[in-house]
Amino acid sequence: MADALVLAERDGAVGIARLNRPEARNALSAELLAELIALVEAWDTDPDVRCIVIAGGDDYFAAGADIKAMRDRSFQEALAHPALSFWARMAACRTPLVAAVSGYALGGGCELALLCDMIVASETAEFGQPEILLGIIPGGGGTQRLARVIGKQRAMELVLTGRRIGTVEALAMGLVNQVADRDEWLAKALELAQVVARRPPLAVRLGKQAVLAAEETALSAGLDQERRLYELAMATEDRVEGMSAFIEKRRPEFEGR
Ligand code: CAA
Repeated sequence: MADALVLAERDGAVGIARLNRPEARNALSAELLAELIALVEAWDTDPDVRCIVIAGGDDYFAAGADIKAMRDRSFQEALAHPALSFWARMAACRTPLVAAVSGYALGGGCELALLCDMIVASETAEFGQPEILLGIIPGGGGTQRLARVIGKQRAMELVLTGRRIGTVEALAMGLVNQVADRDEWLAKALELAQVVARRPPLAVRLGKQAVLAAEETALSAGLDQERRLYELAMATEDRVEGMSAFIEKRRPEFEGR
């Protein structure tokens, strides 16, 4: 059997999906995308998985879409390519996603990191949208998510020049949550994921949904949505447990109910 293109690992309640196509710098082939989304969707429905880390290797997170497969793709084939549904299905994942980025996160690789809810980067990480150098533009959400995260002027520069940025710039732009030493990037990402995994899972999912609404809606509609999600959180048993634990000065036991 061929090696898996995405390796599934578990660390307690955290699922770790490791892109595993080193000979192509983890280029996002249709097969790799299919394995990744199948794994993420399976974990998303598994109550024992409370946070998901998506990681590459030390030298590359992912070098983007598979250029070799793309070159001869016709317009009609591009319209029906599985990558189109991949991005929407990933975005529908309710479990928090943490990208653990070391080395290159380029093109679709940068877009995959941007789709995640948080990014922990190694000091060696490099982000960029080099599609313009190939005669195309980002097609996995890059123009939209990058502009929302780092602002229109800066996104415009990166998309129109293809310039790569390192972690100092990425941190200053608010693209990454934290920068880790080169031998600690995965451990730090797991640490962050474990903190999220210890939080009450229903409230975590509602919180993710509410923050993402800020990108989708105007303020008043977003505030309405937040109010409804907040009310749902108030209906959970976990919130009674969390508040009781605070008052009784003990650690809470969250059951996901
Ligand atoms: N697709 C297909 N193959 C790729 C690839 C990609 N995106 N990136 C690297 N590879 C392959 C190379 O062709 C090479 O294969 P061979 O051994 O058969 O020649 C192998 O991986 C190693 O690559 P390099 O020798 O280039 O490795 P490097 O370490 O010197 O450089 C790199 C690494 C900087 C990531 C460089 O490979 C690179 O620039 N890759 C392309 C990055 C890019 O342009 N990404 C955007 C793709 S388009 C896109 O993503 C569209 C979208 O929005 C969804």
